[in-house]
Amino acid sequence: MKVRPAIESAYELLERSILYWQGNPVGTLAACSSESEAENYSECFVRDFVPSALVFMMDGRDEIVLNFLRSVMHLQGQQVEMEGHRHAVGLMPASFKVIHCEDGSEELVADFGDRAIGRVAPVDSAMWWIILLRAYVISKGDIKVAHAPDFQQAIRLVLQLYLHETFVTSPALLVPDASFMIDRRMGVYGHPLEIEALFYGTLVSAQELLIHNEENENLLGVIQKRLQTLRSYVRLFYWLDVNRLNEIHRYKGEEFGLDAVNVLNIFPQSIPHWLDGWIKDGSGYMVGNVGPSRIDFRFFSLGNLLAILFGLTTDEQADQIMNLCESRWDDIMGEMPMKLCYPAMFGKEWEFRTGADPKNVPWSYHNGGSWPTLMWAFTGAAIRTGRAHLAERAFELCIDRLHNDEWPEYYDGQTGSLIGRRANLHQVWSATAIIISHQLLENPDSVGTFESIIF
Ligand code: GLC
Repeated sequence: MKVRPAIESAYELLERSILYWQGNPVGTLAACSSESEAENYSECFVRDFVPSALVFMMDGRDEIVLNFLRSVMHLQGQQVEMEGHRHAVGLMPASFKVIHCEDGSEELVADFGDRAIGRVAPVDSAMWWIILLRAYVISKGDIKVAHAPDFQQAIRLVLQLYLHETFVTSPALLVPDASFMIDRRMGVYGHPLEIEALFYGTLVSAQELLIHNEENENLLGVIQKRLQTLRSYVRLFYWLDVNRLNEIHRYKGEEFGLDAVNVLNIFPQSIPHWLDGWIKDGSGYMVGNVGPSRIDFRFFSLGNLLAILFGLTTDEQADQIMNLCESRWDDIMGEMPMKLCYPAMFGKEWEFRTGADPKNVPWSYHNGGSWPTLMWAFTGAAIRTGRAHLAERAFELCIDRLHNDEWPEYYDGQTGSLIGRRANLHQVWSATAIIISHQLLENPDSVGTFESIIF
């Protein structure tokens, strides 16, 4: 079979992005552009490395993934104080870079949010690390790596932090704004779906990776309990379809006591106008965020796709989410799959919820911009639900355009037809996502490797 020039160019970009430390490949840069938007795009971001890792594993280059897992694990201990405040032990960095010292040595330096714009906490990093560790173990058929004392200790440190008792009354994980792929203020503090899906994936992975011995017995018990309560909670409280919308529309407020129907005290007046008629029969999705008197009704793509891939949704819910993507194709997929979230926020809402962030103006960047990197998760979810044709449609829509446009980070506009005004070019996870899509659609062996990252 002839390799398409776009795939060749995506591979070239991936190869160019490989970061070496002491002669070994340990990660990939976020972008290989000389005119990057921010300085840290020339670092290896933990979340951006995930699609790189999948490509490496599909191609049998597992050692890069293991080097990455080891490096990030060792960085876990390298935290600096920020404004005199030390981060929680167990946190893993957002990104890292290699510093070439004068004496010829090389140093790995991590960023836990202490250098990042807005000093945001990378809550998702440790979760991706555990999920990737499990994927590596399955793909190599080698549990020994994860059973080594340093890996066991790192997993325990993460779990101790993420399962720490808090004031929260729900089993969902409470996080600050901007603590995951959306790493700027976007009104996504609280219990954002993407974090809940990752948390679920983390708990399932940890359950498989931790040695079942006396030392871990209590922790494993807590994991098991939280898994169940989180899954039931998300399936019930995050799910939105026509029936549920009708229920919320007729909710009474201020019910007291254990028999309350509207337990979170959601006021029907908070249902946004755009939802009227937007969800067709037979489709539905997980809302973006849930809390007291709060449902963020926006559709966030990655959270929904990960919920499908990690089995946080029921099979029926997974089918209905894919039905939504199909029936609302123009809104969600547009001309450049796919929107990070739908719809965008405008006016006062944009001003209040983003802090008037000019990079997040309506239909741009995180605020309804279109991100090609989402294609790996979309393709995986489409295949999992028996909708490969949807993934093929999306793939054909974007592949040549992305190549011609030199792999932009994101696109602007309601249809996603404009290269993002402040998007980097040569953005590595745009290219790796397309390689994964291509592999999953063309090469059945790759589906086997991909299955190591889903549940
Ligand atoms: C932006 C994205 C973030 C990504 C980083 C590097 O900050 O919001 O998710 O990890 O760029 O590509």
